[in-house]
Amino acid sequence: MDINTATQTIANDKAAFDAFAKEVLGTEYQDPNSLAWLETAFGLWTQRFNAIVANGVPHENWGVGRLDAVGMIFNRLTGLDIGPPPSNLLVANIKPADAPVRYPFLWNAAIQDYTQWPGFAANGSDLLGLARNVGEVYGVFGEFAPKKEKWSLLGYDYLAGNSVNFSGLSTLEGLIKKMGPPKYPFPVDQALAAQGAVVFNRTGNNGCADCHSIQPGKSRLFNKTWRTPILDVGTDSRQYDVMSWTASTGVMQGARIPFLNDKLGKTEPSIDILTVAVAGSILQHYGSILLDTRENGASLKAAAPTADAKTASIPELRLKNNLRELKEAFPRSRGEGRTVMKKTAPDGSTAFKYESRVIQGIWATAPYLHNGSVPTLADLLKPAAERPAQFNVGRDYDIEKVGLASSQSGVSSTTVTTGCENRNSGNSRCGHEFGTTLPDAEKRALLEYLKTL
Ligand code: HEC
Repeated sequence: MDINTATQTIANDKAAFDAFAKEVLGTEYQDPNSLAWLETAFGLWTQRFNAIVANGVPHENWGVGRLDAVGMIFNRLTGLDIGPPPSNLLVANIKPADAPVRYPFLWNAAIQDYTQWPGFAANGSDLLGLARNVGEVYGVFGEFAPKKEKWSLLGYDYLAGNSVNFSGLSTLEGLIKKMGPPKYPFPVDQALAAQGAVVFNRTGNNGCADCHSIQPGKSRLFNKTWRTPILDVGTDSRQYDVMSWTASTGVMQGARIPFLNDKLGKTEPSIDILTVAVAGSILQHYGSILLDTRENGASLKAAAPTADAKTASIPELRLKNNLRELKEAFPRSRGEGRTVMKKTAPDGSTAFKYESRVIQGIWATAPYLHNGSVPTLADLLKPAAERPAQFNVGRDYDIEKVGLASSQSGVSSTTVTTGCENRNSGNSRCGHEFGTTLPDAEKRALLEYLKTL
């Protein structure tokens, strides 16, 4: 029985609640105050949990190894955190999170210059890593309950009841930086792999180097990064539907971070609400460190990006840079700045861009593409029409095709894909037809090389 069904039963059945309360409270079960407290707290918890699970999680289309992370972050933040107390719910903001993507591999996460599957987040510095991680915490049941606070620097208290463990997240990011790609554990034909390297390093559509080789990316303060081109290569478009969700802003109506965004109106793109929530929390947490060394009190205004660099103090410069970076952490839907989340490219065409990562360790990360729609690397080197229309996702591995074995013995689920006739299904195997016209011998060599990355 899943947690939601179980907790709903306890909440709605007196006998089940009594049994539960006895277990939780032990001897305190006799104390009417403790019992009343548990009833209220548990009632609130189940109300909130049921709201997001019943309205936001279409489990049947996620399957093993996928989730709609962006959709769930939006649902969590706009549906559970910014409504009126005591529940803080805004159920109408919760939508079915139906654009599941594969869990991305972590070992290059810290060094890419852009990240997230649609490549919307600037990345590669400690601050940007923190922004990414704080957003994730809000998406996975961290506690967050922003409150209007006239006297606070940002007009809001973003840290009241906030469970984000900032130093823990920094430690975590430090550990991720140390992670390398896993080494292929089976024998490799080195001579064949060397031929494959030549194919990989070709430029153009029958090579891979243009988009996946290690090249210097945007510099982030003092950090080196790897270039991560963000391109429309014809793959599934559904994640962009989620990226364009809007929500009512609840208690965050009117919230604004100086130099970062305009005041939030009654209804706003969910990504803008997330940006303010994350940036506000980070600035409030680290603001005191950055600002307290300033003379004459703290003022974000004094550290405007237009401040004269020659006369700016060190903390001012640091804050200025930090604000500039935070601005890039998430796209904004309007005003100056990047517009990657928009469906329409400047020339009027429709663009669904995703990140082309450096693909070290790619042998270990099947199924492939952001939506996990292709089971093996051998299948990815076939035209979309010839890729499997259905496959099982689980742990068993195929050494020949480099990816998921066609039959799975353990926990598994079945992904049913669509072709290019339905690019917006969330399960489309369309696109990325690079290397698909290579002669078979070159494909074999390339596959052997990909094992060694
Ligand atoms: C013009 C740029 C470009 C070229 C050339 C290119 N790719 Fe890609 N690749 C991309 C993009 C963009 C994505 C992300 C698409 C998505 O996830 O929807 C991608 C995704 C992938 C993935 C999936 C990564 C994952 O984590 O699931 C693999 C594997 C891959 N490419 C291998 C190759 C190989 C092998 C070649 C050479 C035959 C190649 N690519 C050539 C742009 C390119």
